[in-house]
Amino acid sequence: MDTEQHTPRRSRIAILWRGDAAARREATPHNNRFVRVFEALEASGIEACPVVYDESFADAVRDQLLTMDGVLVWVDPIHQGKTRAALDPLLREVASKHPTQHPWVSAHPDVILKMGVKEVLYRTRHLGWGADTHRYATADAFRAEFPSRLRTGGPRVLKQNRGNGGQGVWKVEALPNADATVRVLHALRGSQPEEMPLDAFIAHCEPYFGWGGCIIDQAFQPRLPEGMIRCYVSGSKVAGFGHQLIKALIPPPPEGPDAPEAQPGPRIMHGPDAPQFRTLRRLMEDEWIPQLMATLVIDEASLPVIWDADFLYGPRDADGADTYVLCEINASSCFAIPDEAPAAIAQTVKERVRRSMESVR
Ligand SMILES: Nc1ncnc2c1ncn2[C@@H]1O[C@H](COP(=O)(O)OP(=O)(O)O)[C@@H](O)[C@H]1O
Ligand SMILES: [Mg+2]
Repeated sequence: MDTEQHTPRRSRIAILWRGDAAARREATPHNNRFVRVFEALEASGIEACPVVYDESFADAVRDQLLTMDGVLVWVDPIHQGKTRAALDPLLREVASKHPTQHPWVSAHPDVILKMGVKEVLYRTRHLGWGADTHRYATADAFRAEFPSRLRTGGPRVLKQNRGNGGQGVWKVEALPNADATVRVLHALRGSQPEEMPLDAFIAHCEPYFGWGGCIIDQAFQPRLPEGMIRCYVSGSKVAGFGHQLIKALIPPPPEGPDAPEAQPGPRIMHGPDAPQFRTLRRLMEDEWIPQLMATLVIDEASLPVIWDADFLYGPRDADGADTYVLCEINASSCFAIPDEAPAAIAQTVKERVRRSMESVR
């Protein structure tokens, strides 16, 4: 019998992001954008290991992940033409070996498919953050329902279910006296408004029913020029805010999309206690996050260690106070983050590690 006293082994957590073979060879905890996260985990007594992923060396990544207690993932749904079509099954596979001795994954692909897709806007439209929102499950439903909604509902914003960086997000407006023609503007940087037959635009959107599955249709929020409020969350607790004067879906000035006025402003970061966001924090922590978890059936331990909810200002209420409309949730690759967030991530990771140790005992 082994009677020796063992000091518990330090937990090992992978930090995974996308890169090529050279990036994989050269990655250390100090030479990449996650350096503060590495430092916060180390300060909490957790060993954090860089794991650079690409499809071309997926097997080596899988082997490496299977030696870890946890995996924190920062990979966008679409990056320079590459998707997560191969990464998600790999992450599911390594996570499925849990809890015998293999790692938990944040954000787990199944959790991303619930909260990190545009469909979340539809499934949570009854929450206080919801706007007038519809979902088209098929190209036929889209063709049948969208034209009348566009005529009666004012400008709309269409979003492919899974995307980032403005890809597949469109503002669509009916033109007066031209029933069959629309003005559209893509949210991708550098886009210009275009007028085209509604039929042609609808046909253009049909590929969105492929990979992502559906199209979400949300009322355009006219307070867009007042900027976006990104609420950062670790687990179920707010970890900070970012406010940014974004330019996507705002028509560029006459000088064109390269003009300085057409560029987004900097994102100004704030800690979780910032007084101007006190109401939003309370709404998130006390109402909307618990309601999101209940609606989507996500338990607290499965919420990503870092995610964000992006808000646009909604119409002012009867007292003139701001309201907030959910624009999207980012759960795949939430970065950059406020200065306060790495410590919050480390705290959440520590709790997860403790919980997962308990579950294997
Ligand atoms: N309902 C809306 N009203 C006004 N602008 C919107 C609306 N939804 C999205 N936008 C604009 O489009 C941009 C991209 O949309 P978003 O839902 O954030 O998708 P993604 O960032 O994944 O491409 C936002 O940053 C915002 O500028
Ligand atoms: Mg966005």
